[in-house]
Amino acid sequence: MDTPAIAGGRPVRDTYLVFGKPDLREQDLAEVMACLQSGWVGTGPRTAKFQSLVKEYVNAKHALAVNSCTAGLHLSLIAAGVGPGDEVITTPMTFAATANVVHHVGGRPVFVDCKRSDMLIDPALIEAKITKRTKVILPVHLAGRACDLDSIHAIARKHGLKVIEDAAHALGTEYKGQRIGALSDFTVFSFYATKNLVTGEGGMVTTNHEEGLARLAIYSLHGMSRDAWKRYGDAGFKHYLVEEAGFKYNMTDMQSSLGLHQMERFAESQRARKEIWQRYMEELQDLPADLPAPEDPESQHSYHLFTLLPRLEELKVGRDQILDALHKENIGTGVHYVALHLHPFYSRTYGYQRGDYPNAEFISDRTLSIPMGSNLSEADVGQVIAALKKVFRYYRK
Ligand SMILES: Cc1ncc(COP(=O)(O)O)c(C=O)c1O
Repeated sequence: MDTPAIAGGRPVRDTYLVFGKPDLREQDLAEVMACLQSGWVGTGPRTAKFQSLVKEYVNAKHALAVNSCTAGLHLSLIAAGVGPGDEVITTPMTFAATANVVHHVGGRPVFVDCKRSDMLIDPALIEAKITKRTKVILPVHLAGRACDLDSIHAIARKHGLKVIEDAAHALGTEYKGQRIGALSDFTVFSFYATKNLVTGEGGMVTTNHEEGLARLAIYSLHGMSRDAWKRYGDAGFKHYLVEEAGFKYNMTDMQSSLGLHQMERFAESQRARKEIWQRYMEELQDLPADLPAPEDPESQHSYHLFTLLPRLEELKVGRDQILDALHKENIGTGVHYVALHLHPFYSRTYGYQRGDYPNAEFISDRTLSIPMGSNLSEADVGQVIAALKKVFRYYRK
C-alpha cells in the first residue's frame, strides 16, 4: 500500500495546492493598473460597470456593489425593516456572517435544521418556527446548490415575510431555469477571495425593488443622500445630506477592476468547474465517503464547493485527522461549516446546544471540502483524487 505522507510516505505533490486560489489573469491585473493610473481608485465608473455586468447576468433590475456579502446582508436586513426583537429564520449550516448580521441589527437568528441529503434549509420545518416577531426568511444556497425557493416563497407569502437570499456561493446558480438574483426581495453575492468570482473582498445586492435598493444605497455610504459618491466628479461639487446613520460599505474601483474581466469569462470558468465536478463524481465513487447529492435536473449548481461526508463508521479516524493527512499530502482543504449553533457565541447568547439540529450536526462533524476552481489543472485534480484515495485507504477499517 502507498504510505501516506502523514505516516512517512512521499506526498502526492511537491508544492502546496491552496484551497480556493482565485483564477486571476493578465487582463485582470492590467485593469487594476489602469484603474490606479486613472486616478479614480474609490467608487466610480469601474464599480458602475461591474454592477451593470452582474445585474444583467442575474437578470435583476437593480444592483448595488458593496465591500462584502456580509455588508450586503446587513443592509438588506435594514432595508427589510428588521430591528430589535425581530426574528430571522435561517440555517445553522452556514458561515457566521449570515447570522451575525441578524444579531447586529438587534434581531434574533432562529435556526431551522437543514436536510441531510443536500445540506439546505428544510422548508418543511420552517412554519413551526414562525412567531409574530418573524420578519424574514434567509435561505443560504450552500455550496452553490439552489434552495427550494418555491416552498420558501409560499411560506413567506402566507405569513407576510420578506425573503433575503444568501447567495455568497451562488453566482451562476439557477433555480428552475432562472438565475439566482431577482427571485426574492434581496439577493446577496460574495466576491471574497475563494469565491467563483473574486474581487479580494466584495459583494453585491441585487433586487427588482427600486425603493428597497435606494434605501440600501443610502445606508451603504454613511446615510448620505443618493449619488453622494459623485460629489467630486466633473459635474462640479454637489452638497449631500445625511439622511440616516449609515455605514461605509461601498465597493471601490480597485476591487471592481478585478471583477470586470472575470465577469466576461464567467461562463467559461463555470464550464471548467463543471468538468472538475464531474470528474470528482466519477473517480471518487468508491471512497468510504458520501459525495454531493445528485444535481436537480431543473436547477443549475454553481459548483462552488465540492464537499465529501466521510462515513466515520467505516474509518479508524475522524474528519480532522483526514484533513491533517490531506494537508501532509500538500492538498488544501476547507470545512463548510461547523454548524453555527455549536459556536460559543451562539450557544452562550441564544441558548442553542448540541442536539438541537441533528442534520446540521451530522454534516458539521463530517464535512470536508476539496479544491475546486477554474484554474486547477488536470494534474492538480488528479493529485487531489490520488491523495484522497491514498488517505482513505490507509484509514479504512
Ligand atoms: C454562506 C456565506 N454567507 C456569507 C458570507 C460572507 O461573505 P463575505 O466574506 O463576502 O462577507 C460567506 C463568506 O464566506 C459565506 O460563505
